[in-house]
Amino acid sequence: MKVEAITESHFGAKVTGVNLNTLNDAQWRDIEAAWYEYAVLVFPGQHIEEAAHIAMGERVGDLEQLVADKKSVPISNRKADGAKVDEASDHFQILKGNEGWHTDSTYMPLSARASILAAQVVPDQGGQTEWADMRAAYDALDQATREQIANLAAYHSLFYSQSKVGHSVNSGASYGLGNQQIPLRPLVKVHPVTGRAALFIGRHAYGIPGMSEEDSEALLSRLVEFACQSPRVFAHTWQPGDLVLWDNRCVLHRARPYDYSLPRIMRHVRVAGDPRTEAGVNA
Ligand code: OGA
Ligand code: MN
Repeated sequence: MKVEAITESHFGAKVTGVNLNTLNDAQWRDIEAAWYEYAVLVFPGQHIEEAAHIAMGERVGDLEQLVADKKSVPISNRKADGAKVDEASDHFQILKGNEGWHTDSTYMPLSARASILAAQVVPDQGGQTEWADMRAAYDALDQATREQIANLAAYHSLFYSQSKVGHSVNSGASYGLGNQQIPLRPLVKVHPVTGRAALFIGRHAYGIPGMSEEDSEALLSRLVEFACQSPRVFAHTWQPGDLVLWDNRCVLHRARPYDYSLPRIMRHVRVAGDPRTEAGVNA
């Protein structure tokens, strides 16, 4: 197995020389160690089968069930029968919403530990995914900002983030959003395994207690803008068969636009957070 850094800092690595369809325990241990170091691992040309994709997620932890009775979900603008997804649907509008910097499931009672996204059909142009290193972003903050945010938290809501892009979520229940409390999450997250501090922000975050709506929004967007820029960002241009594993506890990610009339078919497995470290502080 070969692990090659993608950026000049220890953020993002390309992993080759391993077949994820026949992954063994020793290989997984090496992958896991590299994952804690690089936070995002790109595995080109795996063409992983669904069962192996799910099994890989289960090595990381308990899976989130994003769709009833399914452990993997389509991140796709085509339905199972190949028909186009209606652009007015919640599903399509949330895919579009994913073009804003975010970390997965922060609006759920437990934010996600990990995501594993595999590409099946991708457009020739656009449709990349980008990741930004929130460990490096925290380290690069000036002292005054670090002190300002040290004890701040924000609410995280999918209704909020989607309304910002002009979409009102119709079927919240099918995204696991019942009448649950909106989670409140500190802006600085200490990684439960590595102990490193990271900014914990993104499109779902709003409403910092103790600040006006405007000041809260200004601070959160200033932080995202600062965090998500060179040298802390890299993009992956997908080829069919590629797979990426990322750590939602310390990176932001976003999809890039493309011609939505063309198919983009991906499959996602999402690993749940630990109730001791990924629950809201108001839970
Ligand atoms: C996701 C996501 C980005 C993309 O699957 O959680 O944000 O490029 N995907 O599809
Ligand atoms: Mn996402």
